Amino acid sequence: MSFFRPALDGLVPYEPGKPEEEVQRELGLERVVKLASNEGPWGPFPAALEAMERSAGLLNRYPDGGAFHLANALAERHGVTSAEVITGAGADAIIGHLSVATLDPGDEIVTGWPSFISYVLDALKVGAAPQRVPLRDHHLDLDAMLAAIGPRTKLVYIATPNNPTGTMTGRKELDDYFERVPAHLLTVVDQAYFEYIDEPDYPDAVEEYLKTGRRVLVLRTFSKIYGLAGLRVGYGVGAPDVIQGIAKIRRAFDVNTQAQVAALASLDDPAELERRRRLTAEGRATLVGTLREHGLEPAGPAVANFLLADVGDDAGPLFEALLRQGAIVRPLTAFGAPGALRITVGTPEENAFFADALACVRAAAR
Ligand SMILES: Cc1ncc(COP(=O)(O)O)c(C=O)c1O
Repeated sequence: MSFFRPALDGLVPYEPGKPEEEVQRELGLERVVKLASNEGPWGPFPAALEAMERSAGLLNRYPDGGAFHLANALAERHGVTSAEVITGAGADAIIGHLSVATLDPGDEIVTGWPSFISYVLDALKVGAAPQRVPLRDHHLDLDAMLAAIGPRTKLVYIATPNNPTGTMTGRKELDDYFERVPAHLLTVVDQAYFEYIDEPDYPDAVEEYLKTGRRVLVLRTFSKIYGLAGLRVGYGVGAPDVIQGIAKIRRAFDVNTQAQVAALASLDDPAELERRRRLTAEGRATLVGTLREHGLEPAGPAVANFLLADVGDDAGPLFEALLRQGAIVRPLTAFGAPGALRITVGTPEENAFFADALACVRAAAR
């Protein structure tokens, strides 16, 4: 018998990619461009950099365990009380805490598939059973997800836009879903890419579902457009009892001081946010063109900072060939899509680098 809990038997440790410099050295490349993890390609906002500089000398102290100022600012921004906000070391940490707080062995979660892997992994870690509902045309199939709900379903995850497809679920569909979803469960609307989206049909789930009394936890993050992925800071907005349940599980000091001050300082720069949104939309359109030029139709319409391209039965060889050109993208085998690659939108210059890399690979294949 294993020393470890049986729930862990089928799991494998997260396998990190090699550092960029290592890939560059091993392959003898002049330049490497990483378009693999859906980060923003720009650094932290200027005010965030300044805030971190100011607080660096105070790092002998533990962080503020309640992230008081950040939580208050987020509550104010969303027009909720601070009892309805929880911060975490990335939205990812909140998914983990929520899973521990709600799932007993044998309980179930429902998610679209492929979708963000943590929903599934964090359920498996506690012995719960993920119900993975196949996408329809690269979109979440909310009808099928509703049909997958059973008496033991505790959580339904709706990633919109969905990672790895980049497609969103529109307002009408979400409205219908909330009309029909049983009251006993909690829906997590994961809006990690919220700030990128400029579509009239894209709902703000805090405003439109939480505030209208739906049983929902909304996730957001500073890892994407705000350029703070390396710091690990995200948050959830939900009913006080849900926030409290998560707060019981989280570690006291999980959001570090630099993450708190940088996130707080990032909240007040609409011009920079708009600039990044616009450049990302332009870059996304460019990348769509690049893929199409090579006969690769991306999933769509994609609305965030990444694209999924179905490339055939096995995306491995194309991934490797791009890597040898210095372009690192994300193979999606772990997402259950071995024939697809996910490409993050970079700076205009990085997108051009990717286009050249793909052109080289395709020319060599001919
Ligand atoms: C849909 C979705 N949710 C959550 C996350 C996690 O974000 P964070 O960096 O805040 O943990 C990601 C990151 O890729 C994501 O794609």
